[in-house]
Amino acid sequence: MTTQTIGIILNGVTGRMGYRQHLVRSILAIRDEGGLALPDGSRVPIRPVLVGRDKEKLDRIALRHGVEEYTTDLDAALSDDGLGVYADFLLTSARVPALRRAIAAGKAIYSEKPTAETHAEAEELAREVERAGLHNGVVHDKLYLPGLLKLRRLVDSGFFGRVLSVRGEFGYWVFEGGWQPAQRPSWNYRKEDGGGIVVDMFPHWNYVFEHLFGPVRSVYAHTATHIPERVDEHGASYAATADDAAYAIFEVGEGTVVQMNSSWCVRVDRDELVEFQVDGTHGSAVVGLFNGRVQTRETTPRPVWNPDLADAHDYRADWSRVPDNAEFGNGFRAQWEEYLRDLVAGRPHRFDFASAARGVLLAERGLESAATGRRIALGTNAEARS
Ligand SMILES: NC(=O)c1ccc[n+]([C@@H]2O[C@H](COP(=O)([O-])OP(=O)(O)OC[C@H]3O[C@@H](n4cnc5c(N)ncnc54)[C@H](O)[C@@H]3O)[C@@H](O)[C@H]2O)c1
Repeated sequence: MTTQTIGIILNGVTGRMGYRQHLVRSILAIRDEGGLALPDGSRVPIRPVLVGRDKEKLDRIALRHGVEEYTTDLDAALSDDGLGVYADFLLTSARVPALRRAIAAGKAIYSEKPTAETHAEAEELAREVERAGLHNGVVHDKLYLPGLLKLRRLVDSGFFGRVLSVRGEFGYWVFEGGWQPAQRPSWNYRKEDGGGIVVDMFPHWNYVFEHLFGPVRSVYAHTATHIPERVDEHGASYAATADDAAYAIFEVGEGTVVQMNSSWCVRVDRDELVEFQVDGTHGSAVVGLFNGRVQTRETTPRPVWNPDLADAHDYRADWSRVPDNAEFGNGFRAQWEEYLRDLVAGRPHRFDFASAARGVLLAERGLESAATGRRIALGTNAEARS
């Protein structure tokens, strides 16, 4: 592809993720700095074209941000040879047909996760982009968060020794709607529309744990729909048919045990909306979205269990802060830049459709585990059930 200008079709910019993270924080921020910065110091201009179903909403967004090109006709955008990249932020259930149109048009593809609702479809898409030789990438934003970059640094340094276990806590209270509007779209709570916290979050957990500690080998999940009725964007009550909490155990890498709670029905008593505690033979860490703290085996206190005496020890004080040692930008933008630089350089992007398909597999096996009450092995379709 030419490095003169990168033309990008942005489909779904009226949505939450499409607008805020992908359009405003990533693509327009890059455009407004004069384009994509390359290692040699030059910049490649960005030509964004917005696509959506509602012309008035597109009008407003385009006007607000000085975007010249927008259309409700996806095929027209796909037929423009000056637009080399197709990016998809649609709600999950609308994604596969749109991706297939972009694949048929021979575009480089960048997609929100999950790429599909079923593993079979996600794997088929991965094969299609591979067969067509298309540059492809899928959002793995959590890996670009400052907290997880610090955790990666700790892993790479050998800080932990052997990693024994991880306890992950993700979640916050999502209002039911009505007396206070919900802060997530209502389709998230309807199974028939591709909703559910397992489908939403397990694709993230798969790449997070795979990247940090090795492949996820098995899953046991208990799911719940704690709030059975919610109120939608129009004030109408609806039945919540999807899981709104998942309590899971994953076996990861070489015997690391991960307990991962994901819930839209918990009130936060943590420093951040997601936190992971990693315990290793040589040290432990607690990281969140931004911050991290560590305790080494040399600074580990020696608690003695005594229910008769109130314990005055300040356990929190035994931890020390992990310094930034770098400037961290917006994670979505950082991945966009890496994806586009890979495109310009003609090398594959490391977080591709195959990785996304493994994430969908974890979600699918998680739901299977919840339905059957069994621990389910991962791997290929054939191996997983053995
Ligand atoms: N990476 C992350 O952290 C993260 C976080 C939240 C959501 N997501 C993913 O992003 C995607 C969008 O989620 P969201 O929360 O922005 O949802 P949203 O409901 O705010 O936006 C969905 C978008 O899809 C469009 N759309 C809806 N139905 C459509 C249809 N039938 N045909 C074509 N377009 C349609 C809407 O107009 C809107 O632009 C989902 O796949 C979700 O899993 C990712």
